[in-house]
Amino acid sequence: MAFSKKNACVPRYLICAVVIGLIVNKALGIRNPDRSSESNKDLPDQEHHLKIAVFAMGSFWRSEAVFGCLPGVIRSRVGYAGGSKRNPEYRNLGDHAEAVQIEYDPRLISYEELLNVFWSSHDPRQVFGQGPDVGNQYRSVIFTNGTEESRLASISKENEQTRSRSSIVTTHIQELGVFYPAEPEHQKFELKQNPLLLQLIGNLPEEELQRSSMATKLNGYVAELCPPKLQKQIDAKINEITKKGWPLLREF
Ligand SMILES: *[C@@H]1O[C@H](CO)[C@@H](O)[C@H](O)[C@H]1NC(C)=O
Repeated sequence: MAFSKKNACVPRYLICAVVIGLIVNKALGIRNPDRSSESNKDLPDQEHHLKIAVFAMGSFWRSEAVFGCLPGVIRSRVGYAGGSKRNPEYRNLGDHAEAVQIEYDPRLISYEELLNVFWSSHDPRQVFGQGPDVGNQYRSVIFTNGTEESRLASISKENEQTRSRSSIVTTHIQELGVFYPAEPEHQKFELKQNPLLLQLIGNLPEEELQRSSMATKLNGYVAELCPPKLQKQIDAKINEITKKGWPLLREF
């Protein structure tokens, strides 16, 4: 990582958060709700059109980061889905898969586009695992809500199978039952590995962090999974902030 000055942003973290917010919003052309409406349980008026998509594609730490930085993705959450065990936990998730739930603005990104990202961000031909992660919890699943999503998912799977030629696409398409949110320590996992960035957005309390659009994007940024242009823009902004450092109080 190009920046390392710990504490560089503490006293003025709100300003930092605003600055990064401005560049992220500008780059993505999204209007984020402000902090007060983000912590509101009821969706603000401008969010009633948001839709939800759920995918499983290996470790949910990575899945969340894959989608977080896409223009039109407003927030994300990891959890367990697709199994029958009630109240699964990370160390005891039974027959569930690790999944990511994405809240998105369909005016900015379509379900088909999300499906394309799903296919291009993991290997759906791998059996019983994904990359180095072995186990049924890492299986590939598209969780649908209703016939239209199910139809689009089936078409995209057929296309993927055509591209894969001889090897079989193992991805399941199933109607979403219950989505159990995972424990807090698994939410925004990538971002939580970076204390400086957590400070830059104001060391949000857990609940706010989970609902924050900024945190959703920075979670993708830390994993270097943002679209390249945005990745560079955020890099530059953070380097600028950390290079400047902070004025020190030297004497009265
Ligand atoms: C499923 O879709 C319906 C209507 O489109 C919507 O009201 C509902 O909230 C959706 N459920 C989930 C879990 O996204």
